[in-house]
Amino acid sequence: MSTKTVLITGATSGIGLALFEKYAMEGANVIACGRNQEKLADLHSSAFKTFCFDITQPTQIASAAEDIKALDLLILNAGDCRYIDDAKNFDGELFSDIINTNLSSLGALLQYFLPKMQKGGQVVFVSSSATILPFPRSEAYGASKAGMDYLANSLRLDLVEHGIGVTLVHPGFVSTPLTDKNNFTMPFLLTSEAAAKRIFIGIEKRKNYLQFPKRMTFIMTFFSFLPSSLWQALITRKHSTNKDSV
Ligand SMILES: NC(=O)c1ccc[n+]([C@@H]2O[C@H](COP(=O)([O-])OP(=O)(O)OC[C@H]3O[C@@H](n4cnc5c(N)ncnc54)[C@H](OP(=O)(O)O)[C@@H]3O)[C@@H](O)[C@H]2O)c1
Repeated sequence: MSTKTVLITGATSGIGLALFEKYAMEGANVIACGRNQEKLADLHSSAFKTFCFDITQPTQIASAAEDIKALDLLILNAGDCRYIDDAKNFDGELFSDIINTNLSSLGALLQYFLPKMQKGGQVVFVSSSATILPFPRSEAYGASKAGMDYLANSLRLDLVEHGIGVTLVHPGFVSTPLTDKNNFTMPFLLTSEAAAKRIFIGIEKRKNYLQFPKRMTFIMTFFSFLPSSLWQALITRKHSTNKDSV
């Protein structure tokens, strides 16, 4: 069997870095992408290639793509999370930044990398379990990931005829630099290695959807079927308790 070529965005940190290490250990040709030059240099010896680009800059993506012949796996993992702390004085700039980074960037990433995908390949979208239910302060992050969900689910239908699969991943809380700054309780927190292992296994099984940890996504899915007023009462009470304890 020929060696798989795997491109990972956001390979310099957290879940992306753990996925990079997992695929490199499995002997894949891993193309690591990120913005942090120093961290990319650290990955250089075990990477097939490294690319330094900002996913919000289509020209930078286009020039990286020129150096890539073919891909078996495209893992769209890079992302950012920042919260709307004062909804009444809505921060439109923060909202646009998060939508640009987590959602709009996917347009250029798909434009330049999808044509490189081999038949039998797979595109993986790292979304979030936050899209199962609305959370306070998550207007920007949740909207960006909900948009990603629709994009992935729609793209899956159109890629069938090309023999390319789409895996949509909904992780729960994973301990990474992105969540280290959270000052609230994160139930069922996983390590980035545990998250990467679950994603790796799901990709191998060519799953359409991956949700983990199961206990957390089961509870969230259960609440998503109840009247929204129940969730509202529960989450706004919990949110104000969290605020009081900061
Ligand atoms: N951690 C969680 O609990 C959790 C839960 C659900 C979903 N997720 C999702 O999982 C993905 C990875 O998150 P993480 O927790 O591993 O975060 P992380 O440790 O902060 O890593 C984020 C990665 O994205 C890259 N990145 C961010 N903005 C970029 C940009 N404009 N251009 C290029 N690269 C950019 C960063 O690259 P540089 O550092 O090189 O700039 C970094 O490699 C995100 O999409 C996140 O929404 C995370």
